[in-house]
Amino acid sequence: MVMSKKILTGVLVACLAIAGFFALNRNEKASAPAENIKTVENFDKLKYSTSQPGSIWWVVNKTRPLPEGYISPDLIVPNVKLQFEPTDSYMQFSKQAEPELVEMFNAAKKDNVELIFGSGYRSYDLQKQLYDDYVAKDGQAEADRYSARPGTSEHQTGLSFDAFGENVECNLEICYADTPEGKWIKDNSYKYGFIIRYPSGKESVTGYQYEPWHLRYVGKELAVELQKTGQTMEEFFGLN
Ligand code: DAL
Ligand code: ZN
Repeated sequence: MVMSKKILTGVLVACLAIAGFFALNRNEKASAPAENIKTVENFDKLKYSTSQPGSIWWVVNKTRPLPEGYISPDLIVPNVKLQFEPTDSYMQFSKQAEPELVEMFNAAKKDNVELIFGSGYRSYDLQKQLYDDYVAKDGQAEADRYSARPGTSEHQTGLSFDAFGENVECNLEICYADTPEGKWIKDNSYKYGFIIRYPSGKESVTGYQYEPWHLRYVGKELAVELQKTGQTMEEFFGLN
């Protein structure tokens, strides 16, 4: 009797170990989709300009500001679920990237994930208002870690937007990464030409803390490369 109890315990432990092994493997696969991505062999890094305003590879950051007075020339209200009124100026996005934005929102919906367009284009003046408010609240050093100074925000290009989700408490918060919307974006947005522009652990490169909600359109070709290599735009193109 004592023996059979021991055997039973042994069998149970073995079963748990096997189940654990498979569960672990499944998680690893889910969190490492980049392994299976097929990239272009001789990627042409000069195909689009990284400095021309409006280019889908235009790199805008703290040291690469937009031209003074820049207004994205092709803004439209995207045909996706909006967080605010379509008449609000920040419910706009670049027309050249809108078809893939719609494609991405529709693909998420098919996976039972409803993405929400939270904030797209921001004028210089709107960014100034936001930045000034953040500085007043948190001080300049802290604000600079999560908000662009006016004239340096990707939102002003019209090619970026903040994705929101059902759980409003996680909108624009780190916990967005753990929501169904945040997880879907992390694993799938590159397929539609979007990247998480300020990834985790890259603050020294991008100048900003992790923003799992901030997406930038770069086109499918480059998005695949960046997902595969885990690089930021600055690292990939060798820019500051
Ligand atoms: N939160 C990003 C960095 C911006 O303000 O553009
Ligand atoms: Zn943003």
